[in-house]
Amino acid sequence: MPADPMPADPMPALRFPAGFLWGTATSAYQVEGNNTRNQWWLFEQQPGAIWHGDRSGLACDWWNHAEVDFDLMERMGHSAHRMSLEWSRIEPEPGRFDSTAIERYRALLDGLRRRNIRPMVTLHHFTNPLWLEQAGGWENPAAIVRFQQYVRYAVRALGDLCDQWIPLNEPLVYVVQGWVRGIWPPQKTHLLAALRVFRHLLQAHGVAYQTLHANSPGAQVGYALPVRVFQPSDPKRWLDRKAANLKRYLVEHLWVTGAADGKLRFPLGLDEYQHSLADSADFIGINFYTRDLVRFHPDPRRLFGEEHFSPDGEYSDQGRQGVYSEYAPQALHQIVREVNAFHKPIYITENGLPDHDDDQRPRWLLGHLHALYQAIQQGCDVRGYYHWTLTDNFEWSEGWGLRFGLVELDPATQLRRPRPSAALYSAIARTNAISETLVQTYAPELHPILFPTAAPQQQNARKR
Ligand code: FCB
Repeated sequence: MPADPMPADPMPALRFPAGFLWGTATSAYQVEGNNTRNQWWLFEQQPGAIWHGDRSGLACDWWNHAEVDFDLMERMGHSAHRMSLEWSRIEPEPGRFDSTAIERYRALLDGLRRRNIRPMVTLHHFTNPLWLEQAGGWENPAAIVRFQQYVRYAVRALGDLCDQWIPLNEPLVYVVQGWVRGIWPPQKTHLLAALRVFRHLLQAHGVAYQTLHANSPGAQVGYALPVRVFQPSDPKRWLDRKAANLKRYLVEHLWVTGAADGKLRFPLGLDEYQHSLADSADFIGINFYTRDLVRFHPDPRRLFGEEHFSPDGEYSDQGRQGVYSEYAPQALHQIVREVNAFHKPIYITENGLPDHDDDQRPRWLLGHLHALYQAIQQGCDVRGYYHWTLTDNFEWSEGWGLRFGLVELDPATQLRRPRPSAALYSAIARTNAISETLVQTYAPELHPILFPTAAPQQQNARKR
């Protein structure tokens, strides 16, 4: 007897692996409000520091009412959330730890867990206590020991509520903005100091890795790497290729290989081996927003390369001004494949775009998730995706001028209004899949790319 033909899939969909985590990412300073004891609060007071003279103020009022947003996450079916702790709240003066602040963080972590949302905690997301800053900040190697003491306190106090940790968010962004471009505190343009800070951060990552494991043996510790895929502006031009490679070396290679084999490579060191740094990542977090084309530039402050976007690319809000992104999901696919060579679980710890009217976000979200889906199909071990971000929040130098939220927030009234992409993301999280119907509804132009084998008449029939 001839075999029965395979029954048609009732609802064609791109299905993600069982247990895949779906969530959003935030950072303390950007959402908590009134974080008055760190260097960013001071910086904000300077005229011209932040676009339009904006202030973080109450931010998203998480210190008082994060639970409002946790309820939203729960209603949207999210299974994970990446948040950060504010060091200056936990240790307002050197060596004095504040149990009230820790109690609040315990309540936050507990609140996530009770809603079946798995927390991932970042310990340093760009902000330092003022006392650390006044003692030379991360230029001073003493910061490593200070950081270790804070990490030890935090993991002992919170380790029963969280088992995924990221000591430092995007170390290189912190260094480049603060010491190379000089547009974030401490507003320096000093390459040697930049390298010193970067070296201390990499060492601090290794020390924090060991401290977290010593105090919470089941913990998983990783890093959140800012990945910008640097490509030569003119691939035929030797200087452009070298400039792009130099950026990739500085931005990714130094950190990723250092945290694998424990070596502080040039220009951070002369291959000195740091025992605490060797094999110091249980997972790799990728923060991905865009790719950059790099054209050679003789200025060392630009690290010998000028970044620019492709003239015929598609851009997010402010993208053409070079502030934010070019749509390049294939670059996410490329980087996930490259990072997979380290044989560690991968999380997309940030990905998103500023898009105040949400006219691009649904398509960008689907495009990036499709890139991830393809990488997973090809064997990459990707375990979760954290969209940046849940509600609009205080976007550093750009203040309230860039809107990254799935949910629109009016900081003056604290009113929240989900954008269409919040419902799209919720449907994906709930079903652990991207269905054909979702693509037809939110971004029909992507249908031929995401479902290339679907019959053309079916594609036409479902177009909006
Ligand atoms: C990342 C930062 C995060 C947020 C997004 C838009 O580089 O880690 O705090 O500002 O960009």
